Amino acid sequence: MEPEPLFDAALALLGEVGDIIADRVELPVEPAWCRARELGPFLRELDDAALGRAELEGLDALLVGNGGRATGAPPALVALAARLRPLTALPPLVPDAGAGEAARSVGARKRAQLAARAALCGPLAARAERIVDVGAGRGHFTRLAAAEFDKPAVGLERDPARVARARALTGRADVRFEVVDVTAGTLALAPGDLAIGLHACGELGDELVRAAAAAGVGLVLVGCCAQKIRGPARVALSRRGGTLTLARAILGLGNLRPRAEGVESSLAECLASRERRYALRRLLLGRGLEVTAGAEMQGLNRRRARQPFAVLAAEALALRGLAPADAEELARHEAAARHEHGVIRRLSLPRALCGRLLEATIALDRTCFLREQGLAARLGTLCSDAVTPRNLAVVAGPSREQ
Ligand SMILES: C[S@@+](CC[C@H](N)C(=O)[O-])C[C@H]1O[C@@H](n2cnc3c(N)ncnc32)[C@H](O)[C@@H]1O
Repeated sequence: MEPEPLFDAALALLGEVGDIIADRVELPVEPAWCRARELGPFLRELDDAALGRAELEGLDALLVGNGGRATGAPPALVALAARLRPLTALPPLVPDAGAGEAARSVGARKRAQLAARAALCGPLAARAERIVDVGAGRGHFTRLAAAEFDKPAVGLERDPARVARARALTGRADVRFEVVDVTAGTLALAPGDLAIGLHACGELGDELVRAAAAAGVGLVLVGCCAQKIRGPARVALSRRGGTLTLARAILGLGNLRPRAEGVESSLAECLASRERRYALRRLLLGRGLEVTAGAEMQGLNRRRARQPFAVLAAEALALRGLAPADAEELARHEAAARHEHGVIRRLSLPRALCGRLLEATIALDRTCFLREQGLAARLGTLCSDAVTPRNLAVVAGPSREQ
């Protein structure tokens, strides 16, 4: 499907599920959107295996193939999943290299990603005079692209330490790195450039799209972390997006793809940390504090939630100048959290299902904007979900031939 009708469908759906996206489940209580669509009983009754599968593969994994009937899924959920499917199943832009072995190791997934990136950039790089890697990090791909396509390359990166590392690792005279904070209007691309942004966070991706359109040059963009914007909201770039305005507070949902690491053990670790954080919030609420979700870790590094609950609670209480918890108080909150966090996880599944909608909407807005500006732009997947869930790529060339 062309990006324009897909974007229209995404915008229409966003309008319908705005209540789900806006209302995150923070307590073991069915939110209004859940009651209105009669989703509660089905979600609450999912057993642990089904819950684990839905978190790992997405709620759609429980519905696909049998129209949701065999699972007893509520019609509203089946209908929502069906409408989300075209946005999830975008066409691959390059043959999927290494997907089979991707589940095996981080190294295999990294290799598969690099191979896919190189395959995607190849045709555009062949015609480019220079590669401009924006948000280059330590310049891994900048160096690789310069070598693979035998082109001069420049890596732009705002973090001076990363730039220093990138320079230290670079042997070619025609590969250089600059410390630049790319913000509105500061990125000037020249004719013959191929602009690349790999995991370009939030507004950096938008800036890259604007600059590529202004210069009429090729672009390969894989976005991420849409919430990393300086303003309170992201507004549409494209005319087609109209008044679409996405608040920063909801943009993080676009990152919430279930296979966060693609490794079950890390997912289990992540869930255990979240349960501990919930137990801590419960404990703090029990002490009469007003603690919104996330605020329980105020003053503490998120990684501290990997410690045993007693240690985490002791640190959080000491930070607030409160008396330590005794064994009974700790055990009470830990036990209640085990059950209640399970309910929260189940009730959160429909909202997580909408994560791809947000991610795809932003990518479609960028694609439509580039096409409105006369570039040949396409949206698709860079690699399979198993390699990385951040796999949506916008590719644009200076002419409709690309
Ligand atoms: C997620 S990392 C990706 C690094 C690299 N492209 C890769 O794929 O491995 C994003 C990088 O963009 C940089 N960055 C974010 N915003 C930036 C900005 N406004 N200007 C320049 N660099 C930025 C960050 O410092 C970070 O190194």
